[in-house]
Amino acid sequence: MKRILAVLVFAALCALIGCASSGASSASSDSSTQSASASQSSGALAAESSGSASQSQGIDYQVLVNKLNPLPEGWEGVLETVHMTNSIGDDVEVEKKAYDAYLELKAELETEGVYVDLDSARRSVADQQRIMDEFTKEYGADYAKKTVATPGYSEHHTGLALDLYLIIDGKDVVENEDMIKYPEIWEKIHAKLAGHGFILRYLDGCEHITGYGYEPWHIRYLDDPAIAKEIMDKGITFEEYKSGKAAPEVSYDYGNSKLYTKEELEAAAVQVKCEFATFEGCELHNLRYAGDECNTKENIDWLNSLDEGANYTQVAEFLADFHTPVEGGGAWEADTEMKDYQWWLARTENEGWQLVNFGY
Ligand code: DAL
Ligand code: ZN
Repeated sequence: MKRILAVLVFAALCALIGCASSGASSASSDSSTQSASASQSSGALAAESSGSASQSQGIDYQVLVNKLNPLPEGWEGVLETVHMTNSIGDDVEVEKKAYDAYLELKAELETEGVYVDLDSARRSVADQQRIMDEFTKEYGADYAKKTVATPGYSEHHTGLALDLYLIIDGKDVVENEDMIKYPEIWEKIHAKLAGHGFILRYLDGCEHITGYGYEPWHIRYLDDPAIAKEIMDKGITFEEYKSGKAAPEVSYDYGNSKLYTKEELEAAAVQVKCEFATFEGCELHNLRYAGDECNTKENIDWLNSLDEGANYTQVAEFLADFHTPVEGGGAWEADTEMKDYQWWLARTENEGWQLVNFGY
């Protein structure tokens, strides 16, 4: 497990989708404690196949896995991976085509004097659970949930998400708080991603969409340089690409809660935004906290009854105004302004919010 920044700067929700920097945390859930023994040689010391070639036809390279979309069922049965050993001696498992593309990316970067290696790629649900447990123990549940995907909901399960580390002057730079000190190197790396079918997945200032802070090291393979280029050129998140358009300007109102801090309400709004990003073609205009009156015993009992095994003790209700797709589609009536659409979140005190229910 990498050591992560102790400072938690969970960014204020940005109103614009243009991803203006909001000072997001650079912490991530990336794995492996690593020392600074170094080499600039290729990390591909060994590559061995697992899975069968015919099965590899089956994966959807543009699958969206995020806080709300788990790894699709049956994924592991069709995933074809290779194992490589990085410069530190760790075994890293990667989806086969993503690995080939990574090697090309790496080689191109080396011509510019930029050296990278793979810290982590495919992780099993058990691997992710171990990381989540470690982060929860060390930093608390709230922080862990903002930086580590829930097991089953990590893009790393796909084998298509790769965490890079830097090799600078022959030294491995692996810790997040060290890697973040080299924005000019990341800029060079990010400029080359699309040409090899990769995108940057967790953009600075887009926590409200992706659910996670800035991770310059976490890249995602899409197996399509044209799509990757469109996403990178527009500077949008994969969520926005999948939902068809960049979100318009959104206004937020957190009211004057005596129960929750603004940061706590922002964290709840992130969950709403993530779910809203899946409402294809809809435009969110306004999202507001409904007020402390929502935290009644009746509502707590209701949300506990919806979520088996839950023991929620607090509730936050949000209301949203949004516009349905102009040309219709999905379950929505076309071109309609939806008012006061309800979003119900619950948590056990001092733990992360869960979006339990939404609708009218
Ligand atoms: N750090 C990313 C979000 C993960 O755990 O998948
Ligand atoms: Zn990652």
